[in-house]
Amino acid sequence: MSTTIALAGSTGSIGTQTLDVVAAEPDRYEIVALGATGRNLDLLAAQVDAVHPKVVAIADEGCAAAARDRLPGVEIRVGTEGLASLGAEADVCVNGVVGFAGLRVTLATLLAGRRLALANKESLIAGGPVVQRARSTPGAELVPVDSEHGALHQCLRSRDERGPSRVASLVLTASGGPFRGRSAESLASVTVDDALAHPTWSMGPKITVDSSTLMNKGLEVIEANELFGAPAGEHGVGIGYDQIEVVVHPQSIVHSMVTYTDGSTIAQLSMPNMRLPIGYALAWPDRSAAAFGPIDWATLSRLDFEPPDLAAFPCLGLAFAAGRAGGLAPAWLNAGNEEAVAAFLDGRISWSDIAAVCASVLDRHDGAEAADVEAVIEADRRARRAARSVMGIESPPTDPT
Ligand SMILES: NC(=O)c1ccc[n+]([C@@H]2O[C@H](COP(=O)([O-])OP(=O)(O)OC[C@H]3O[C@@H](n4cnc5c(N)ncnc54)[C@H](OP(=O)(O)O)[C@@H]3O)[C@@H](O)[C@H]2O)c1
Repeated sequence: MSTTIALAGSTGSIGTQTLDVVAAEPDRYEIVALGATGRNLDLLAAQVDAVHPKVVAIADEGCAAAARDRLPGVEIRVGTEGLASLGAEADVCVNGVVGFAGLRVTLATLLAGRRLALANKESLIAGGPVVQRARSTPGAELVPVDSEHGALHQCLRSRDERGPSRVASLVLTASGGPFRGRSAESLASVTVDDALAHPTWSMGPKITVDSSTLMNKGLEVIEANELFGAPAGEHGVGIGYDQIEVVVHPQSIVHSMVTYTDGSTIAQLSMPNMRLPIGYALAWPDRSAAAFGPIDWATLSRLDFEPPDLAAFPCLGLAFAAGRAGGLAPAWLNAGNEEAVAAFLDGRISWSDIAAVCASVLDRHDGAEAADVEAVIEADRRARRAARSVMGIESPPTDPT
């Protein structure tokens, strides 16, 4: 029997690559639901023609009428709730939505007791404590799609689950983005096109800008703590922010590593290709039969590593600070960053302003607890308003949920 899949964010970079993975093993997987905003209806209609889902969710209510005309015979669900309903529709829900808008899909999938293949890191970062509670729903499981966390997931499999953890550190690799090696002064005048020219990965615009500021790595530090953090047990070492390291590795071949207490480091290597971690999250605990990004060892000449430059890329330090503060601080940082990146892409602020806006928003975080999803959404709203006020933007933020 095939594994059924619901795919939220089907028209994006993760979404289209998920469809490639499914197409590589057509007898193994069946796409039963797709979801997107509905603004890219040509691509969504082509996907419907190719995979024949039973359900399509259109998150932007203004696009629903056109979608109904264009997709006769398909059940159309509309709005945030329509998109979130995909979580209960299949064995696995891939959350490839970008930004905080993915929160409801993450929660709905876990609360339905299904497997969440999570690319949408923002939901885990902003909604950490609420998502953690949802993860304890019987049947729910979260397998990360982010290549670094997929790598850590694989490296941690070498643990003896029956014994003590013995993990000394989680080492996240970062490509360094397009501005690796540049000084803070030389980065003052970079353009949107410069920031979007990622050297090793082809991704959507928001995460590509995050990679250029190293905010993406900072968000991944919080994501790693949420996914793999553990209190110190009887035998000493737990996993927290002091055990998470970042190292710049420009070739993006070592996707992350785990160092154990005996000094041994286990790494996961493959060529940069997101289809591999997507396939891993779909197939787990088995593996994909189709290979994506295997290494040709005859031509792989070198692997370089260097420490990150925290002065030129202050977003990484901000993320460690927000993660250590805990509660809703990561939600404030995430919302401030989403607003700042959108303003940068619109030409309203400079690249260097992104970190300054994030620092200012994080300073205003009020220490409120993440009691429930409404508290997370309220923190996101307040942080977005704060970010726009810092940037001198008068119009109110769009509500991502
Ligand atoms: N791309 C990568 O290689 C990569 C790697 C690791 C992690 N990730 C993570 O994966 C997520 C997706 O990234 P991406 O690069 O695939 O982004 P992307 O190419 O910009 O695609 C985003 C997808 O989300 C949909 N979407 C946008 N706003 C939405 C909303 N308000 N409600 C519902 N759907 C919405 C888009 O639909 P429309 O097309 O209709 O607008 C599109 O399908 C991000 O969290 C990112 O950090 C991506």
